[in-house]
Formats: sequence, structure tokens, C-alpha cells
Amino acid sequence: MMQTQTWWKEGIVYQIYPRSYRDTTGNGIGDLRGIIEKLDYIASLGVDIIWLNPIYDSPNDDNGYDIRDYRKIMAEFGTMDDFDELLSGMKARGLRLVMDLVVNHCSDEHEWFKESRASRDNPYRDYFHWWPAEKGTPPKRWSYFDLEENAWQYDKQTDAYYLHYFAVKQPDLKWENPKVRQEVYDMMHFWFQKGVDGFRMDVIPFISKDITYPEIDAKEPHEYIAYYANGPKVHEYLNELNNEVVSKYDAFTVGEGPGISIDDALDFVHEDRKEIDMFFHFDLMSLDRAPGEVFKMRDGGYSLPEFKKVFTDWDAAFAKAGWGSLFLANHDFPRTVSRWGNDTPEHWRNSATLLQTFLLTMRGTPYFYQGDEIGMTNVRFTDIEDYRDINTINRYETVKKRGGDLEAFMDSEQHAARENARTPMQWDNTENAGFTSGTPWINVNSDYKTGVSVKDQLNKKDSTLSYFKQMTALRKKYPALVYGAYKCIKAEDEQIYCYTRTLESERFLVLLNFSEDTAHFSLPLSVSYNRKIKVISNDKIIDDRTFKEFTLRPWQAIVYRLEN
Ligand code: NOJ
Repeated sequence: MMQTQTWWKEGIVYQIYPRSYRDTTGNGIGDLRGIIEKLDYIASLGVDIIWLNPIYDSPNDDNGYDIRDYRKIMAEFGTMDDFDELLSGMKARGLRLVMDLVVNHCSDEHEWFKESRASRDNPYRDYFHWWPAEKGTPPKRWSYFDLEENAWQYDKQTDAYYLHYFAVKQPDLKWENPKVRQEVYDMMHFWFQKGVDGFRMDVIPFISKDITYPEIDAKEPHEYIAYYANGPKVHEYLNELNNEVVSKYDAFTVGEGPGISIDDALDFVHEDRKEIDMFFHFDLMSLDRAPGEVFKMRDGGYSLPEFKKVFTDWDAAFAKAGWGSLFLANHDFPRTVSRWGNDTPEHWRNSATLLQTFLLTMRGTPYFYQGDEIGMTNVRFTDIEDYRDINTINRYETVKKRGGDLEAFMDSEQHAARENARTPMQWDNTENAGFTSGTPWINVNSDYKTGVSVKDQLNKKDSTLSYFKQMTALRKKYPALVYGAYKCIKAEDEQIYCYTRTLESERFLVLLNFSEDTAHFSLPLSVSYNRKIKVISNDKIIDDRTFKEFTLRPWQAIVYRLEN
């Protein structure tokens, strides 16, 4: 049976990291007017929904994921008037807006926290997790961005520790307090009433944690993190949030879902549960990480059968209810083509377009990160001075303090660092890729000079950008590409990812050569048809005249429509 149909299942999402999109003031930082300037471009891509990384007032310890005021626009990005203009410009072009909702924590500069830390009997005291020092040192908790990797920060003023699973300037909000939840719901109404269409919910399973704080016998970070998410009240809170807020609008929510396993998936997104609509699972993002590591990549990359397995298993999870989200990158991970494809000059274009073909022919809502449409690549900084990210900088300091191998750390960051994704969008081949007339807040990837720019690709028929537009148009044209059942063919094949998508009499065959070599593929008996019609390919087809036999060039993608 086909799932219920709705705009956020059919939509293609384009994620914008505003700090790096387009600077119109010359201060080197992207801004809302920069996005307004590019709205025609964005609409021309054939995408439907924009997800904006946080644009709220923030001291920017973690680039906006530390919010000081949830109802104010970050000064560097512009004003509320700019926001209103952006939103109406989007509506005029049929684009929807999804905002980032960061409510596991806020900034230590938020009024709530300033009050909370002022005295033990302050009305805001219970907005955060405090551990009074007279109880002794709190049980060890690992923290993502802390220099000591310690999630408890001692605060002298009230002789107590506060909890921060992220940076020391990101205290965790205490969702157990109904007042905190009400504050969040009111704030969400504020943005919905302005006309936004949904929220991407930052680390949402973390809102319910084990606040009995047992001693954890762990050595590695991931052993701690297992205790941070999906606490006893997670479903109660999400259900309440849906009832109180989201259900009142024509809107959707997508949670960032660290810690949500495939077995629990439907508990979050089954329509009957009325919690959230989709979430980003982490199985793909951890696929090529070193064992036990949170930030390092493993040697040798990933194998195609294990990549297929992640997508096939997750597709099955939502085959009858719920809905999946598809992504290969975002602002927290290396670039799509550098990680899952091959960004050497020989294979860059084919692998970038193959990966676009993949996301746009799978079931689930596809999320593209800015620059994916032109095949932007990892910048691979060599100097710690090039980095701006608290994650890289603090871990560098920690390695240094512990006398660790800094060279190995820098090498690893070239593949793993979040800032591979955060370098400025490459608009043209003038200085700084047309991102800013000033000095960019972070260095631009130099490949804007060699073809990786919008201007270079705009009017070229065979460019990555042109291919992306053809692919988004295809997805729009054929409902089977959105709702059709997915079937993986020869899951064990190490070079070719082959699958069919079927909706009633509409059927597609997708063949993707995930390798640097020419590859051959024979369709098994189980796939039968009378005629195949090529719908798109990112390269010239060698020869597909033999029935059910295919030969694909390196990183070639081909989509056929099958007729019985
Ligand atoms: C996930 C966000 O995507 C990331 O950028 C941020 O640093 C952490 N959550 C903390 O908010």
C-alpha cells in the first residue's frame, strides 16, 4: 500500500548554512540578504524546501547552536525585517522554510541561564541541570566540545555544577520542568505564526536523559553517549510538542536522531503516534568512522555492500508506515563527493552526479547541502589556524595537552572535520568565489578556480549543476521515484548499486557504478520486462543492446523506465 501523500514527502530540501552562503555587507560573513539575493537561483534548482541552520541571536561559540535569544535574528545575519522579506520572497517562489530548533541547550548568555546561575532559589534555577557541590563530584560525563571532555562545569557563584553535553557555553535545558517546555512551545508558535513551515530539531533525543546520573563504567566517548539520548520521557515530550504546537499548522518536523535505532524508528515517526515526521539516523554517518571513535574516519573508507545495507534496512523500516529522510552530508560532516564519491579530476563529475542520482531516486525526503549541486569538495586544511570550529580547535588543544600525535590529528581532520562543509559557497571564479568582497570568515576552497562554481557550470549542458536540475525535474515528474516501492538487486555486488522503484504500473531501474572501473552487471531472472527506456545517464552509454546485460563506465549512473 502506498503511504499517504503530502508536500514534505514530495519535496526536495536544500540546506543553507547562512554564514557561508553569500555576504552582502563585505564583513566576510554570509547574511539573510545574501540568501534573498540568491532566491531565484535556489528556485531554479528545482528544490522545494529550504532548511536554514540557526539564524538566531548567538555569541557563536558553536556557530549559532548556542542561542542567546530565540526570537531575535543574529546581528551579523541581519534583522527581523530581512527575515520577513526572505520568507515572503520564498513564498512568492513556492519555496517553504524549515528553521533549526535548538532546544536541548541554549547559550550561557541566554537570560534563563543568567538568572539560573544567579542563586539557588532563583525562579529559573530549575531550567537547567544543576548538581550541588555538597553532593560531591558528579559522576563522570563526557562532553563533545569541552577542553577537558567533561560535561559538568563547576560554577562558583552557587557552588554547583551544571550539565553541558556540548560546549561549556551550551548548558542543557531541563525538559523535566514544564515551564521549560512551555517556553519552547511559545517560541515555536512565534515562528509558525510568522509563516515558517517546519523545524529541524537539533539532537532531539537528548531532551530526555537519565537524570539519576548513575556512575557509568565507560572508557570511550560513545559508551557515555549511549546514555544521553532517548531517556524515559522522550516520547511523552515529543507527543506533547506535537499536540501543543505542530499539529496546529500545516508543518513538518525532522529530528536529528543520534541514538535512534532502526527497531525504535516507528515509535518516533509512525503517523498514529503523533510525535515527529522524520528523523536523520546516524547509521550512514558512522559507517566509515574508526571503531569506537566519534570524530575519526576509518582507513579504507566504506564498502558498497555495507552502504547498500544501511539504505535497504532503513527503507524497509518505513515501507508501511512513517517516512525516511535521505542525506549524504550536512554542515557537520565532510563533503558528499569527497566522502562517498571520488573528487579527483578524473572522477569528480561522474561521482558527484551519481550521488545526486542516488538521493533523487530513493524513497524518503532527500536533503541536499548547499554546494552539493555543483559538487563542492573537502577543503582539507593543513594548518590549525585555518580552522574556526570549536570542535576541531578544542580537540586539537586536548591532544596537545595530553602530548598526543598532532600530525595524525591534523591528517584525520582533513577527512573528518566539519569545516570541510562550511567553507563559503562558490558562486564564480572571481576572488573569494564571489562569496564576499571582504575577507571571508573562513578560507574559500581554491577549486572555485577550476570549475567548481555556479557561474562556470550554469550554462554548460553537461555540468554537475545542469545534471542536478534535470534530476530534480525527473523526481517531480514521476511519483514512482517518490512513493514507489524500493527493491535492491544483488545486494552483494561490490561495484554496482542496482534497484527498482515501482508504483503500480510505473517502474524504474537504477544502475549506479560506485567504482573507478568499468563494471558489468547482469540482471537476475527476478527482474523482468519487455522494454527499457533510458530516462537519464550522467555519461554516454557504452552498449546496452543485449537484453538484461549492462556495462557502466566509472561512476556512471543510468536510470531506465521499464515496460512490461
Ligand atoms: C548538532 C548540530 O548539527 C551541530 O552543528 C551542533 O554543534 C550540535 N548539534 C550541538 O548543537
